[in-house]
Amino acid sequence: AELETFIGRLPKAELHIHVEGTLEPELMMALAARNGVALPYADATAAAAARARFANLDDFLSLYYAGTSVLLTRRDFYDLADAYFARAATEGVRHAELFFDPQAHTARGVPWSEFFPGLHQAVLDALAKHGVSAGLIMCFLRHLGPEAAAETLEQALPYRDAICGVGLDSSEVGFPPALFAAVFQRAAELGWRRVAHAGEEAGPEYIRSALQDLGVERIDHGIHCLDDPQLVAQLEANAGPALTLCPLSNLRLQVYSGCLEAKLRQLVCETRVPVTVNSDDPAYFGGYVCANYAYLAQVAGLDAPQLAALAANSFRASFLLDAAAKERH
Ligand code: HPA
Ligand code: ZN
Repeated sequence: AELETFIGRLPKAELHIHVEGTLEPELMMALAARNGVALPYADATAAAAARARFANLDDFLSLYYAGTSVLLTRRDFYDLADAYFARAATEGVRHAELFFDPQAHTARGVPWSEFFPGLHQAVLDALAKHGVSAGLIMCFLRHLGPEAAAETLEQALPYRDAICGVGLDSSEVGFPPALFAAVFQRAAELGWRRVAHAGEEAGPEYIRSALQDLGVERIDHGIHCLDDPQLVAQLEANAGPALTLCPLSNLRLQVYSGCLEAKLRQLVCETRVPVTVNSDDPAYFGGYVCANYAYLAQVAGLDAPQLAALAANSFRASFLLDAAAKERH
């Protein structure tokens, strides 16, 4: 309990958080009612029960994309992001870099001119309203392929200065990073920072490819680096790029069925790979960032100084530092 108080008070940056994955069952039901959208749940309790068990990433993603059906207007997107910032503030989050999935909305006929201003206004208000500074990272849905990603990048150009980076998410296996090399190259030329989900369900070769082919500054998840000791050695030697670990997500999506706790302990206690702690999709995985720190502390036997070091990593790996400054650290 003492350690939990410490975790709550520790200033933290959250670097791996999908805004669509912060949609709590209560807000989902309220937006469904506001917008006249039909959902297959009688109430928020029933909606929450549907989120209790996932067999794997794709199983989760189908529910996650279904949840977005209630998000239609600017106001909906504002309310979604604002609710996250309010909660994050109570968890000691001082800075957050939020992923959003443009294609999850454009594919349903919700245009950039509706979802982006809602998200962006919530980001602009978050510092004064909640004491949280924030950035937005647009993710390409890897299952839709590189042409759709390139089209999405073009649609984002009017909002160029309001976006800090690009990422890559959705179904991993079968959609290797190299497919997206050209669109990430173009993103870099536009001055956007680069990250990618890699090594969540897929193996270390996806992490190697994200580094080599996409030039990413962080690896989202990346836990499967443990399957390749040479890759671990490379990440240790270069002090990065940091991994944005999401322990409760990994648990709920069963990415290391049976031996996750041992893997988390190994990564944090037996390697010098820089790791940050994040919640991924907290409304679906049953815990915001503090619960993720607490779970990791429990399985890896971490003390307060080790937890403080993880929080320090989160600011060091953030885009609060420009790329040149990061090179020097
Ligand atoms: N992995 C891949 N895609 C996602 C995730 C994730 O953990 N969350 C939301 N989209
Ligand atoms: Zn994620």
